[in-house]
Amino acid sequence: MIQKAVEALKKGEFVLIYDFADREGETDFAIRSDMITPEDIRSMRKDAGGLICTAVHSDAADKMGLPFASEVLKMTHIAEKEGDIPYDKKNHSSFSLWVNHKDTFTGITDIDRALTANHLADHVKHAMNGGALDFASEFRTPGHMATLRANKKLLDERRGQTELSITLAEIGGITPCITICEMLDDNTGRALSKEDAEKYAEENGLVFIGGKEIVEYWEKQKSQQ
Ligand code: 5RP
Ligand code: CA
Repeated sequence: MIQKAVEALKKGEFVLIYDFADREGETDFAIRSDMITPEDIRSMRKDAGGLICTAVHSDAADKMGLPFASEVLKMTHIAEKEGDIPYDKKNHSSFSLWVNHKDTFTGITDIDRALTANHLADHVKHAMNGGALDFASEFRTPGHMATLRANKKLLDERRGQTELSITLAEIGGITPCITICEMLDDNTGRALSKEDAEKYAEENGLVFIGGKEIVEYWEKQKSQQ
């Protein structure tokens, strides 16, 4: 399944990534940000329904000046601390800043969010290749696209969809900037169950992959280096 997931991601298709039963137990839509379209944003909000976020590799986030939101908000006293997240006591969330590209109007429309994601990918690509663009001159915060910073050690330290999706991008050799969105259940008010997410994948011809498989592949690859 890992090869199918990577191939789908490379083609610009959605891949459904489930984390772990003992973590969130959630499935996210994941798609490469350099190919995301307004139609994809629409599918994410209509069929997934969660928060649409763009995950960024930590090396690129450093160069782009995207900090962890929890660090920036420390002075507010209500900032999230390590141990605050019920499903992950060892790490804080991966949230960074909420941004809009300067060419957006309100920032929230499908067109605007796709545009912001496309430009984020462009900045990640340049940052990863050593030629960082001027992030501050092109984006403003607050905005309507939540950005997420992947952990520096990726799956060695944190195993959220942030790291799982960026790992898939690394395996596929594509720009490590992936837009993700949780699948929610319209009937129960909860996250969509793994079984229902798998069913959705099957009905829509999409690849469904679990975090366990991504971690196993990642670890095998590392041991062979
Ligand atoms: C942003 C989130 C989601 O859970 C998203 O999947 C990324 O977070 P994580 O890497 O912790 O899974 O909190 O909507
Ligand atoms: Ca998640």
